Amino acid sequence: MEILKTKAAMRAWSAEQNAAIGFVPTMGYLHEGHLSLVERARAENRKTVVSIFVNPAQFNDPKDFEKYPSDLEHDKALLEKSGIDALFLPAREEVYPSGVPKLRLSYDASMARLCGKFRPGHFEGMLLIVHNLLMWVNPTRAYFGLKDYQQFVLVKSMARDLEFPLEVIGCPLLRDADGLAMSSRNVRLSPKGRAEALAISRALKKTQADFPRLKNNLAELKAAFATELKPLSIEYAEICDADDLSEATGRAEPTKQYIAAVAATVDGVRLIDNIFLN
Ligand code: PAF
Repeated sequence: MEILKTKAAMRAWSAEQNAAIGFVPTMGYLHEGHLSLVERARAENRKTVVSIFVNPAQFNDPKDFEKYPSDLEHDKALLEKSGIDALFLPAREEVYPSGVPKLRLSYDASMARLCGKFRPGHFEGMLLIVHNLLMWVNPTRAYFGLKDYQQFVLVKSMARDLEFPLEVIGCPLLRDADGLAMSSRNVRLSPKGRAEALAISRALKKTQADFPRLKNNLAELKAAFATELKPLSIEYAEICDADDLSEATGRAEPTKQYIAAVAATVDGVRLIDNIFLN
């Protein structure tokens, strides 16, 4: 595994490959969820690149940025073992030599909802770094976990609208044995907090099970979903059209796909999760 620390080295490596490149962007503190993206990238491309960069521009809360977990030596060992070809590991000054640019990439409606509503600036910062990483890495395919479903929808739209010649691929959300969606942030939960957080996946699974019965009354489905989550401190709990993340109300249309999405804070840790309903 080559370790590339500069944009120039990353671009040069990519240009030399003459082969399909799979790219997995991450912020490190890797878990099985990330490794499942790596595995898929390796299976579908001749070369695989992973990036690790904790992007300050996408943290709306500076304390959240400071507390973001990191264990670079562990990450490097996992990636070496996973058989990737290159690790892009730029420093902050390399990524933002003149500070975070003022340029903002944004989508109005789909960005202002769900996480976008509660984390002002988050998706603008995320789109900026993903845009730049895609320019430097120049992959054939880029892989994103569907736990961050809104991120996936926005990145896919950006790649289409800016005509990046690549495929954006969403990979299934993975859960630990107790049902909690895998996330680098889970390490900050106390045992009690973790037990409380399990209400999230229980509520999602129940909502999925309720969907066939309540698909003609999505307002009632949403109310039942909220009731299940009541013990937690909820930011949002919504039933959405999975294509554009607009709020789904009234009756479900047979040709559309729906998703239940939630953000909650447990032990001061912000957790997001979702499930496809059909
Ligand atoms: O999902 C993440 O870990 C980050 O948002 C990403 C895509 C690496 C951009 O910083």
